[in-house]
Amino acid sequence: MRIYLATSNPHKVAEARHVLGEYSIEVEQKDVEKLEIQADDVEAVAEVAARRLCELGEELVAVEDAGLYIDALNGFPGPYSEYVYRTLGIAGILKLMTGVENRSARFKSAVAICVEGSVKVFAGIAEGFIIGEPRGSGGFGFDPIFVPAGHTKTFAEMSLEEKSAFSHRGKAFRALAEWLLARSPERQPPIG
Ligand code: IMP
Repeated sequence: MRIYLATSNPHKVAEARHVLGEYSIEVEQKDVEKLEIQADDVEAVAEVAARRLCELGEELVAVEDAGLYIDALNGFPGPYSEYVYRTLGIAGILKLMTGVENRSARFKSAVAICVEGSVKVFAGIAEGFIIGEPRGSGGFGFDPIFVPAGHTKTFAEMSLEEKSAFSHRGKAFRALAEWLLARSPERQPPIG
């Protein structure tokens, strides 16, 4: 089976490919115009974008929306993560967190896909905390300042495989893969 991922972010493609590859599902990057609404939760953003693609007849095209939610900043940057990364950057977030004791944060990911004219949404959350100084050179975005709960390495210090094992994106794409496989005819029990 093959699905398409509407994104220009090669890191997202690599992460999706790794996770879905474990289920023998291929992922192809697709350059389509993605409708991006302003909403507080990533599920709504992904769902609206996928619904639009569905209306355009784009079958099996997934969109993913993700964000970093920092408790001490009341969930900021959340749905504004991409803009905040481009403007304030990691240094700006660390500055906002100066002297802040509560470092807990979470990444959220929502994957929405159009299958046979309907949209399904799958979400994944990675709990963790924001460290004081960036560490590591892998991954992208806020990876160098995020350590998942129960671990000591930042996402940027992990391999793609390690990050995907407990990342928000890994969880969301695994849920998608399981749903896709459960509904595919070759996995259904024989009739009679
Ligand atoms: P979007 O889903 O492309 O809108 O991503 C929003 C922003 O959140 C990205 O530009 C990154 O800054 C950040 N982000 C989303 N997912 C990750 C991740 O897995 N690691 C680090 N930063 C992420």
